[in-house]
Amino acid sequence: MGTRSEPEGKSLATSIFGQGREGEKALAGTEEPALVGVPSDHLGSAIAVESVSKVYGRGESALVALDRVSFDVGFGEFVCIVGASGCGKSTLLGLVAGLDQPTRGKVDVRIRTALMFQEPALFPWLSVWKNVELPLKLQKVQREHRREIVQALLKMVRLTGFENRRPHELSGGMRQRAALARALAQRAEGLLMDEPFAALDAITRDVMHQEIEELWEETGFTVLFVTHNVREAVRLGDRVMVMSSRPGRILTEIRVPLARPRRIESPEVAEIAAQIVDLLHREVRLHGTGPYR
Ligand SMILES: Nc1ncnc2c1ncn2[C@@H]1O[C@H](COP(=O)(O)OP(=O)(O)O)[C@@H](O)[C@H]1O
Ligand SMILES: [Mg+2]
Repeated sequence: MGTRSEPEGKSLATSIFGQGREGEKALAGTEEPALVGVPSDHLGSAIAVESVSKVYGRGESALVALDRVSFDVGFGEFVCIVGASGCGKSTLLGLVAGLDQPTRGKVDVRIRTALMFQEPALFPWLSVWKNVELPLKLQKVQREHRREIVQALLKMVRLTGFENRRPHELSGGMRQRAALARALAQRAEGLLMDEPFAALDAITRDVMHQEIEELWEETGFTVLFVTHNVREAVRLGDRVMVMSSRPGRILTEIRVPLARPRRIESPEVAEIAAQIVDLLHREVRLHGTGPYR
């Protein structure tokens, strides 16, 4: 992967799902069009969150996890949400993923999404190959075509040669790449990522940043990426939504005008990150508690 001089995105997408009508026919039981490479001129948003509040519990013990949160994510956009631990990031992603319902407000998701966590949700008893193949089996993709797709996906996430390994035999970064391949096998058009790289060492994390960015550029999928790491958010996002704690609110939205690929250690990234941290500090001084002190 990774050569930008030719439109590899198209050929990758084609090699994986878009084998014209043939590929679609192979995905028996689904009527939807090929899911990678959603047209970027599509009107409207892939994800629209409108004045969403989430309250856990009732009465005295009620906890307002999210308070009138609104934002949109465009098709193919890479949006990061940054905020302190406990500010409601996972709650918000869970609502977008449809795992839970908002107490108030509306969540409108127009793409098929896959959720990725810090701990890759792989089946430990299945090989890498079988982990990636499983969603295709569930979609009743024919065996031959399955083989082609798994091969292409593993190549895409650079796991060729590791097909027979089981998750515990892989490094943290490789496990995340296998999880990514599986998400793509679910024909996701959007990735909801909940601090996926928080457990990785800095070097592996930098490599993963580069890889997720390349995959995003190649496939054109939409990414909503949640992190407490301000620099990571600036490194990756087209836009960064900054969240306050208790209750979780969107304080502001910052467009990151820097060219890609960015370096997390670069002064430009550091400068924007510093603005965000200042903002979070001011918020803490205004409203009392919070970990960004
Ligand atoms: N299922 C739940 N029941 C009650 N409280 C919850 C539940 N899930 C999260 N919370 C609370 O909601 C707040 C936001 O949590 P969470 O969304 O996990 O934050 P983050 O992902 O930003 O660390 C925290 O105070 C947390 O304790
Ligand atoms: Mg969380």
